[in-house]
Amino acid sequence: MEEHIFNIEGLTHQFADGTFAIKDLSLTVQQGKKIALLGNNGAGKSTLFLHLNGLLQPTSGTIRYKGKKIKYDRKALLSLRKQVGIVFQDPDSQLFSANVQQDISFGPMNLGWERNVVREKVQWAMAQTEVTELKDRPTHFLSLGQKKRVAIAGVLAMEPDVWLLDEPTAGLDPYFSRQIMALLDSIHHPDKTIILSTHDVNLAYQWADEVVVMNDGKVIYQGDPVSVFLDEDILMRAHLEKPWVFEMFQALLQSRIPAEKDLVPRTKEELLRKMERERIY
Ligand SMILES: Nc1ncnc2c1ncn2[C@@H]1O[C@H](COP(=O)(O)OP(=O)(O)O)[C@@H](O)[C@H]1O
Ligand SMILES: [Mg+2]
Repeated sequence: MEEHIFNIEGLTHQFADGTFAIKDLSLTVQQGKKIALLGNNGAGKSTLFLHLNGLLQPTSGTIRYKGKKIKYDRKALLSLRKQVGIVFQDPDSQLFSANVQQDISFGPMNLGWERNVVREKVQWAMAQTEVTELKDRPTHFLSLGQKKRVAIAGVLAMEPDVWLLDEPTAGLDPYFSRQIMALLDSIHHPDKTIILSTHDVNLAYQWADEVVVMNDGKVIYQGDPVSVFLDEDILMRAHLEKPWVFEMFQALLQSRIPAEKDLVPRTKEELLRKMERERIY
């Protein structure tokens, strides 16, 4: 049976200034999925993430984590945050220790692990995100991309079951974007669930096994990563463009888009293989 990681029912969030950022949103997240959360600026993606980690409380509605309603006392939140790691959109909200290594160690230390275990995990996380050379540098002098990688290392070192990544590749150059995505692929496992928000449709299309699209505080699509790009109405409402592989394939087939969505290539390599096989030149 597929386990539900999050069940969100009728979630509404109103900020102190009166803004409704989330409006009666319902969503179920299954364990083990790699989910790309798409949506225009201001759609409510970051606000939703903060709810899933217990950093914001619903104005109304409920959020269940593994079937249990999220509670907001200190002990319950500590336990939730052990299991649900978040990488904030703005790394300056995340990093506060004097240097990189201390920052990455902060989370694992709070989990009460032994010193040598913490050291080992931190070293591993730094190597995976290629920040080992920065370990003694003050976090506030790092570039945006370096800060993002340090923030990701901090979550990686805690080995959470659920990853919430708010635009993790924004501000990273293509090399590090690919590294981070490869890292996410390597940690992915049937017991781990990853939700990643992004404006990069190419990345979402290639990486995700489920796409969720938000617009104006609501979910307007949840499903496979192919059908969404066939739905012009959703694309328009959420300001989404089509992934280039998808568009290229559509053009090549001169609108003879295959009825079976599984036939649409998701990567450059798949597209090239298909062109070879079907002799489309
Ligand atoms: N702290 C806040 N106070 C008031 N309004 C906010 C606050 N944070 C976000 N908002 C508003 O809530 C809406 C959703 O924002 P956000 O969740 O950041 O969207 P996204 O991450 O999809 O760009 C926007 O209208 C934004 O201006
Ligand atoms: Mg955001």
